[in-house]
Amino acid sequence: MKPHTTAMGLTFANPVGLAAGFDRSGQQAAALSELGFGHIEIGTIVAGQAAMIAAPRCGSRLGINIGSGRRGLDPQVIEDYATALRAAYDSADYVCANLSSPFAGRDGDSFGVDQLISRMKRDVEACAAQTGRRVPLLVKVEGGFKGSPLPAAIAATRHHGLDGLVLVSACLERIAAICQYLNGAAVISVGGIASGADISARLAAGASLVQIYTAFVRDGAIGLHRMLTELEAL
Ligand SMILES: Cc1cc2nc3c(=O)[nH]c(=O)nc-3n(C[C@H](O)[C@H](O)[C@H](O)COP(=O)(O)O)c2cc1C
Repeated sequence: MKPHTTAMGLTFANPVGLAAGFDRSGQQAAALSELGFGHIEIGTIVAGQAAMIAAPRCGSRLGINIGSGRRGLDPQVIEDYATALRAAYDSADYVCANLSSPFAGRDGDSFGVDQLISRMKRDVEACAAQTGRRVPLLVKVEGGFKGSPLPAAIAATRHHGLDGLVLVSACLERIAAICQYLNGAAVISVGGIASGADISARLAAGASLVQIYTAFVRDGAIGLHRMLTELEAL
């Protein structure tokens, strides 16, 4: 399999990224990039911390995962996401709004999801007009169960024409159904990936990229290289 891959109009050295939460501030991004990830998603950063993002220029693509330190999804929380988005914009290759934190009291079906996504879409367009650079916008969301209605955030991703989803799910059928539903928007698949065969199956289901967290914590750079070697051999 060719290691280079494209998604959201960007080229990635390989399809495997580091999921959000490992490097919340971005301070380790340059060092992590040396390990061979195709992308690193830093964060989740919240409004108050956003000014602290060092703009790490590194070999890997840099995603910035944004959120709010408050619970729920009321208008103030939407403002927090908008503040974090503006702070992240210049440093990011893509921005991902996190709706997958079980501690935040919000998810892909929270009341206010559509307002959040339409607001961020407008803000990204405004930043693009200001800077002349269009940064892809994604939402990170739990995929839900096979056969259950799609979370509102996934419908809103399609409706508002976002660039894609970071989709938390290990169910191949569900991933395939969501990729098909999105009709061209990129899917970054995360959750339970531990081998080259897992990566290959997610890509075959329609994902453009994948991310790992637990497998990296467990097996480190050696595990990442093993997965990439397995993938190339498939
Ligand atoms: C300790 C820990 C912290 C995490 N922190 C974040 C976070 O800040 N933002 C986020 O979007 N996801 C966070 N995640 C979720 C991961 O990015 C990933 O979606 C999840 O662990 C599933 O992938 P895995 O099965 O490879 O671990 C965290 C996960 C763990 C285990």
